[in-house]
Amino acid sequence: MQNIILQVGVTILLNSPTNFWPSLSGDGEGEGVEPYRLILLGDSCSGVPHHLHEQNFRALREALLRRRPHSRTLCYLGDHVSGYVADERELRLQWRHFIDREFSDFVSAFNRIFHIPGNHDVYSAASLSLYDQVLPQHHANVVARKGLNYAVRDGSALLVFLNTANPANHGHAMLDVAWLEQALAKGQDATIKLVFGHHPILPVNGYDLHPDWRIAPEDGDRAWAMMRVAGVKAYICSHIIAFDFRVRDGLAQLCTGGAGTEYGPGGAMPGDVEYRHFVEFDASATHIGYRVIDELGRCRERCTWPPSLLQPVEADVPLVPGSPVSVRALSVAAPDAAFRLAWSFRFARPLESPSALIVGRSHEGATPSFLIDFRADGEPLAVHVTPHPNRKEHSWVVPHTPYRQPLVVEVAALSGAGPGGIMARLEGGDWTSMTSASACGIEGIEWPAHWEVPLSSNRMPPSSYSIEMSVRPLGRLERW
Ligand SMILES: [Fe+2]
Repeated sequence: MQNIILQVGVTILLNSPTNFWPSLSGDGEGEGVEPYRLILLGDSCSGVPHHLHEQNFRALREALLRRRPHSRTLCYLGDHVSGYVADERELRLQWRHFIDREFSDFVSAFNRIFHIPGNHDVYSAASLSLYDQVLPQHHANVVARKGLNYAVRDGSALLVFLNTANPANHGHAMLDVAWLEQALAKGQDATIKLVFGHHPILPVNGYDLHPDWRIAPEDGDRAWAMMRVAGVKAYICSHIIAFDFRVRDGLAQLCTGGAGTEYGPGGAMPGDVEYRHFVEFDASATHIGYRVIDELGRCRERCTWPPSLLQPVEADVPLVPGSPVSVRALSVAAPDAAFRLAWSFRFARPLESPSALIVGRSHEGATPSFLIDFRADGEPLAVHVTPHPNRKEHSWVVPHTPYRQPLVVEVAALSGAGPGGIMARLEGGDWTSMTSASACGIEGIEWPAHWEVPLSSNRMPPSSYSIEMSVRPLGRLERW
């Protein structure tokens, strides 16, 4: 029998009221510096009087203005109007209605409004020309411009606004990677860099067809690598009727398509999960954070990234294969808390096909609500989440899990971050959201208070390794 050492640690880190969102400006590096704040809004496809989209956009606009926004700067991320009409006169009427009737309240409420076009705005040479006429982007401190792409320096922040709607291909996704590189170079010394484009780079809720739903992968990969090197904090997009947060190699993508468009199954993508919303967004030199507000003014999702503001409280319990461990703190504290679960796998020696299974249940005998299936033999590392005992299990995978020795894999699950909140990292590297077609994350799951490495399903002899589990509760989240 090979001598195998497998260590599995579960770390649960809960945000305390004092170190969640409002404290972005007061924790760690950059202490005392005000965060850079923006309101993010996108995808209304409006401009047509009495249309459902007009009503939706009005309701959201009123919710935003009632709330007294935390920032006087608004970014509108495209698909302002319904568009896709051949008659230029008709398109002009949509724009006039949108700008004069629907958007005018925002003009007085915000000091600055940045716009980028979506595919409903720019889908032909004529629609591009009209967009440029009706929404000219003249701002102070523009440091780079090409066509509808422009970049603005605002104090310590660099904001790069991309036109990702290709007028030569019905508004489908494109990205001028060379210009992005130039724009990032113009603001090299900025401490906060944000890039905006209408189309996602990373697939959202399983919408991965390109150039329909996202930037073509090779351009996206090049842009992503460039943004990581430049220290960009987030790529912010729209187009999918959803709110979505995810990370790849530590860099975040936020998608907000909640300004009123009804599209997709149930009116959103999908309608049984997603909802109309705007986003209150903060960025500091070290972190980003968001609150997603629906049309009734309720905060529905929130998160800070990276989660290094969390402070651990030590409490370790051994997890012996075949003996379930009760983790009461998790079940008590988790329903309204952000938390992180982390497992690490350490194998002392090369193995043919090391694998392990860790199961979390709400109570003994319950259907597993959280299951980690680890295989380091080229098969995907998989996390299976059952949102509710009666609902379908969703899966998240890391498609190619490299097998190195020793191998340390961590899996994190952040509530408030939706499906992108289930992520993994190898060897202490950067976090990447695991791949899934699910529109839900761990929110709403039956909280796994009982953890077990089952004897029956584990593929390694239980006598050849030891497992430790750490439980590190901190407190409850601030209520909104
Ligand atoms: Fe769009």
